[in-house]
Amino acid sequence: MKQVWTQLKDEALTALSAVSTLDALDLLRVDVLGRKGKLAGAMKELAALEGEEKKEAGVAANEMKTAVEAAFAAKESALRSASRAADLARERVDVTEPYVPPMPRGHLHPVTQIQESLEDLFTSMGFMVMSGPELESDYYNFTAVNVPPNHPARDMQDTFYIAGQPNQVMRTHTSSLQVRAMRAYGTPLRMIAPGRCFRNEATDVRHEHTFHQLEGVVVDKGITLGHMKGVLETMAKHLYGPDTEVRLRPKFYPFVEPGVNGEVTCYLCKGKGCRLCKKTGWLEVFGAGMIHPNVLVEGGVDPDVYTGFAFGLGLTRLVMLKYGIDDIRWLESGDMRFLNQF
Ligand code: FA5
Repeated sequence: MKQVWTQLKDEALTALSAVSTLDALDLLRVDVLGRKGKLAGAMKELAALEGEEKKEAGVAANEMKTAVEAAFAAKESALRSASRAADLARERVDVTEPYVPPMPRGHLHPVTQIQESLEDLFTSMGFMVMSGPELESDYYNFTAVNVPPNHPARDMQDTFYIAGQPNQVMRTHTSSLQVRAMRAYGTPLRMIAPGRCFRNEATDVRHEHTFHQLEGVVVDKGITLGHMKGVLETMAKHLYGPDTEVRLRPKFYPFVEPGVNGEVTCYLCKGKGCRLCKKTGWLEVFGAGMIHPNVLVEGGVDPDVYTGFAFGLGLTRLVMLKYGIDDIRWLESGDMRFLNQF
């Protein structure tokens, strides 16, 4: 019987020496020491023995069991410290590694910052934000807003026409969205449409070939010029502070009647008159007016029932005024020395 124990022990120790993972160790433990394992099976045979023989076999069995359990414990502890060492090696920090400075983080362009701030303001007043194509049909850019072909008002904006595409223009203003919005969303309507516009300008400090506008359109029953002034005053105070006032003076735009030229209190001199506002105390930042009945009709809106107002803010100009930028051409230059100041 003793031989059986010795053989079992040798087999167990040989199998144990071949184990290299904790999972394999668990499997072997079940096979050798488990309730239905090899050792338990041999123990059952003890019951058939008697007297001295049973006693000796019992002592040998216990010694063998103690030795095998100790071997398992030693193996487990060796495997655990090996896996801890592997973890540590993996997580090691090489403090001698050269420092790689993080990539510099970018930020939004100043025009985008003002645009997003105005989108927040207008959406808080119930306006939707719309966008439209920069390559626009001649119809939406001009004809739909009461500027038919050969109308002299087309000369107010120097237009980029597209070679070979007589019905397409680079949109000269965001007013091209007025009729698009009425047709798409009907009445009542409260929308703004920020976006890039293009004009064939001889550029100077105040004029660019590519600039940003923000159009606003409100159409409903009973809308008056008073509503328009209220909205534009809210916009001006939001951008330039609570003391800012808005001045409206008549100006002709074919798509509005009456039309106005909108100015705000000069933010630099607070209305006293300075170099920026050319001593007038006012800065011109938008065109606006009550939407012309012809434009309402073009948008599918009955001008006998509904009225509305529209305004077009020169977003780029608003940015120049806010930050005191003296030349509009910086804004499209992509010059990082300029952009990093915002
Ligand atoms: C218009 O473009 C009209 N669509 C505005 C409008 C909308 C009037 C709705 C009535 C109702 P105007 O050409 O004045 O109007 O341009 C409006 C603003 O765009 C100007 O006040 C100016 O701030 C800006 N702007 C015009 N041309 C340029 C340019 N070349 N560079 C930079 N900003 C410009």
